[in-house]
Amino acid sequence: MSRTPAYAAELRTALTRAVRGIDERDLTRATAALVSRYRSVAPASAPILASRVHVAAYAAYRMPATHAALSRVLVDVAGRGLEPRSMLDLGGGTGAAAWAAAGAFESLETITVLDQVEDALDLGRELVADASSPALASATFRRAVAGSWPELDADLVTVSYVLSELDEAQQDALVADAMRRGRAVVVAEPGTPDGYARVLRVRSVLLRAGWTLLGPCPHSADCPLARGDWCHFAARVSRSAEHRRLKGGELSYEDEKFSWVAAAAPGVLDTLTAEVSSGRILRHPLKRKGFVEFQVCRPDGTAGREVVSKKAGERYRGARDADWGDALP
Ligand SMILES: C[S@@+](CC[C@H](N)C(=O)[O-])C[C@H]1O[C@@H](n2cnc3c(N)ncnc32)[C@H](O)[C@@H]1O
Repeated sequence: MSRTPAYAAELRTALTRAVRGIDERDLTRATAALVSRYRSVAPASAPILASRVHVAAYAAYRMPATHAALSRVLVDVAGRGLEPRSMLDLGGGTGAAAWAAAGAFESLETITVLDQVEDALDLGRELVADASSPALASATFRRAVAGSWPELDADLVTVSYVLSELDEAQQDALVADAMRRGRAVVVAEPGTPDGYARVLRVRSVLLRAGWTLLGPCPHSADCPLARGDWCHFAARVSRSAEHRRLKGGELSYEDEKFSWVAAAAPGVLDTLTAEVSSGRILRHPLKRKGFVEFQVCRPDGTAGREVVSKKAGERYRGARDADWGDALP
């Protein structure tokens, strides 16, 4: 969980530069307004990122976290052998998923970020201006509204932390638009029960259309988690001094909880070489003397406890290093 995503430091430097000069009291007020808005899960009738200051506040306090979550997801997807050359980020805002994709896929050449908020796109452009990744530095940020996305296609389409702002009909339309445009689609949401519920609906749509799941599920049967439980993961994000000031927090880090699903269109997987995962770790492993205990989702569609003991040798050494969200060694 403490793995630092590629480009995290570079993004932080760009963010610090971008918010410099904005009145700190305005930023703090806008941060408080966004925190409270994102707590209430309701479709947005008007853009939540309502001004330049709201956009700057979003970038300063949320973007490092959505970047960290998407980095975990996309590195995992890269492990399945996906090598996208082009990426389309729907509702991409200030470009968190684009930064994550540039870090996860060396193959990436072109990135297009689409969003309804011009100020977010402006800030996204400013952030990548000096990026060391050629794909990021040359990324296109373009205004578009869900329902009338331009007819572009891409090897990878991301929809990151967008569904909660839409009603169910708009969510379905967005997922259909992503599938029409992408050879692989990744959807991430907050790691809350309702975020997981939205991800589960997307998973069903992908499976019904014959797409192949790339993660996190090691199977395509119904989700085996018990009622009241929800599949989610965590990415540790270190907080900068200004992040702590804006949110009034003391800790030097926070854990961003997220739920996700990724799938490839029929035919795309033939070119993927990675083996199907041995199981997905669903909680922090319990590391005891001589054994490690896991809660896992298994390839046979069940979920439950797995123990790897010292006797397992190499596998045990892998188990000691394994973390919540990883494949079971
Ligand atoms: C919570 S932000 C997520 C931004 C970015 N994807 C990330 O992961 O940091 C949601 C984004 O979705 C965009 N969005 C919401 N509804 C939209 C719509 N109807 N059309 C286009 N963009 C939309 C918002 O403007 C905002 O940038």
